[in-house]
Amino acid sequence: MKKDLLMWDETLFRDIEVFETDYIPEQFNFRDSQVRELAINARPGIMGARPLNSICRGLPGTGKTTTIKKLFAQIEEQTKKLIPVYINCQIDNTKFAIFSQIYKRLTKRPPPASGTSFKNLFDMVCKIIKDENLVLLVCLDDANYLLYEKEINKVLYTLLRSHEANEGVRIGIITVISDMTVDLMQEVDQRVSSVFRPSEIYFPPYGTDEIKEILSERVMQGMYPGVISSAMLDLVVEQTMKSGDLRVGIDLLKRSALNAEMDARKEVKKDDICRAYLISKYIHLSQTVKTLSADEKSLLKILCGLTKDKSDMTAGSVFEETKKSMKIGYTRYYEMIKKFDSMRLLNLNYREGKGRTRVITLRYDPDRITDILQ
Ligand SMILES: Nc1ncnc2c1ncn2[C@@H]1O[C@H](COP(=O)(O)OP(=O)(O)OP(=O)(O)O)[C@@H](O)[C@H]1O
Ligand SMILES: [Mg+2]
Repeated sequence: MKKDLLMWDETLFRDIEVFETDYIPEQFNFRDSQVRELAINARPGIMGARPLNSICRGLPGTGKTTTIKKLFAQIEEQTKKLIPVYINCQIDNTKFAIFSQIYKRLTKRPPPASGTSFKNLFDMVCKIIKDENLVLLVCLDDANYLLYEKEINKVLYTLLRSHEANEGVRIGIITVISDMTVDLMQEVDQRVSSVFRPSEIYFPPYGTDEIKEILSERVMQGMYPGVISSAMLDLVVEQTMKSGDLRVGIDLLKRSALNAEMDARKEVKKDDICRAYLISKYIHLSQTVKTLSADEKSLLKILCGLTKDKSDMTAGSVFEETKKSMKIGYTRYYEMIKKFDSMRLLNLNYREGKGRTRVITLRYDPDRITDILQ
């Protein structure tokens, strides 16, 4: 190793934190109407009543989590009465885990040991809410992680009906779903839907100009002037649009500047971006694959195998192959294919000149998908 490799103290970053995935940007535009709707729904809580329930829907990287974190920070600044509780359902996805997080938020103490019964935990949470005269606003982020074995019903039922057993307990709920094929209201039991009645807040994908403004803001904040020229920023924007996820763009900025740093250059070149893109573009893939069910993962694996074997990839012939190793009907199979299409895992196109035959093309290298699946 060259002696000065770690000693080199010239960095291109003013603040590299700005490019981390969990960074909450100060400047947060293009989501005013969503913030406003959520705030209106939360407002009754500030006056001591139950907040209205909401569902936030939108593809990955459309600012749902950030919007909620911003709103929650504002609520915490303005009132001690309404307590926002943020739950990441990728991590906490059982009724017990979620109430443990609520307990932790209310008491600032570690969650009770897992030996505690749910009833005890629930009673403790309700007692604090009543004794301190609080209202809760619970955000279940990435609530699609609760769809397995209908855990969502148990969680929502307990939260929504907690006032029945405990007069004076008021809890509002925000659920967040980034899978556009999931219709949460179809997934929940009638006894939940009759009291849930959320208003839906949609987060549309950002357009080119919006992506450009957001990324250019990050560059200004996180890098020294001149590191990314306007032409290079355009290239990053173009690649971000191609991937469909703002996160790719943010990661791309970081990686390409690190590439330039590594070569001891003061500005990013096209090649830095192209090399960085080879890694950054899979941010979407790895995050998407994580959200798939076991069946969906199996189908994706089959698609990878067929693509590598250069097999016929019409929707019909892929189904014939799938049937050999999975017990599945055509309707369910095609639903999954359409879901992959909407998640941008594959393209589904009509084959020219052959009527309505549809052809499947993976958008990612099958080897790379297989790696991630493993
Ligand atoms: N309007 C915006 N201005 C600045 N940065 C933004 C904006 N919207 C999103 N971002 C940034 O883009 C990244 C993705 O945003 P966020 O995590 O809020 O998306 P999401 O909709 O919750 O995605 P997912 O469904 O994958 O969880 C974050 O790093 C966030 O800081
Ligand atoms: Mg999110």
